[in-house]
Amino acid sequence: MEIREIRENKTEFMDLLLIGDEEENMINRYLDRSTLFVVYDSGKPVSLCAVIKIDSDTIEIKNLATFPEYQNKGYATKLLNFVFDRYKENFNSVILGTGENEKTLNFYKKCGFVQTRRVKNFFTDNYSHPIFENGKQLVDMIYLKKSLT
Ligand SMILES: CC(C)(COP(=O)(O)OP(=O)(O)OC[C@H]1O[C@@H](n2cnc3c(N)ncnc32)[C@H](O)[C@@H]1OP(=O)(O)O)[C@@H](O)C(=O)NCCC(=O)NCCS
Repeated sequence: MEIREIRENKTEFMDLLLIGDEEENMINRYLDRSTLFVVYDSGKPVSLCAVIKIDSDTIEIKNLATFPEYQNKGYATKLLNFVFDRYKENFNSVILGTGENEKTLNFYKKCGFVQTRRVKNFFTDNYSHPIFENGKQLVDMIYLKKSLT
């Protein structure tokens, strides 16, 4: 397993990005200013994390995804820990917004995040079609935060 930092030709990873965020126009809102971290297994990209700098104190994870056939093998957890290590010297905290999906929220809480705020109707206001996860429609965006220090 190898993790590479990607700053150019980021659209090459659109198939992985679309697993974490269903609409390409939403991805294009942050892709240019993102740094991608990609996990390779035997030379093949399997998991990805998109990171932006919010200000001098905080980074935000805009996308986290693993190809379905590679899920539950620990790749996303290793990737998040790599990103925390990479930024902890220069930034104090990491935030992310996600849908109200119990599995996803529990995963992030296990990684040390705590819930901070809710943006009402984010998914219904910003996406062109309803998004369902585990049979439940996503409506609000839940923001989570973790200290890097
Ligand atoms: C969330 C996700 C990135 C985890 O990737 P991964 O490489 O399988 O992660 P790990 O192997 O390190 O950890 C697996 C954990 O993720 C949990 N998980 C969180 N969300 C999940 C989801 N939507 N589908 C399946 N498992 C999910 C699993 O339950 C498991 O938890 P456990 O360790 O308590 O059993 C991956 O499931 C995925 O790409 N999901 C679809 C996109 C998504 O929902 N992204 C997050 C919002 S941006």
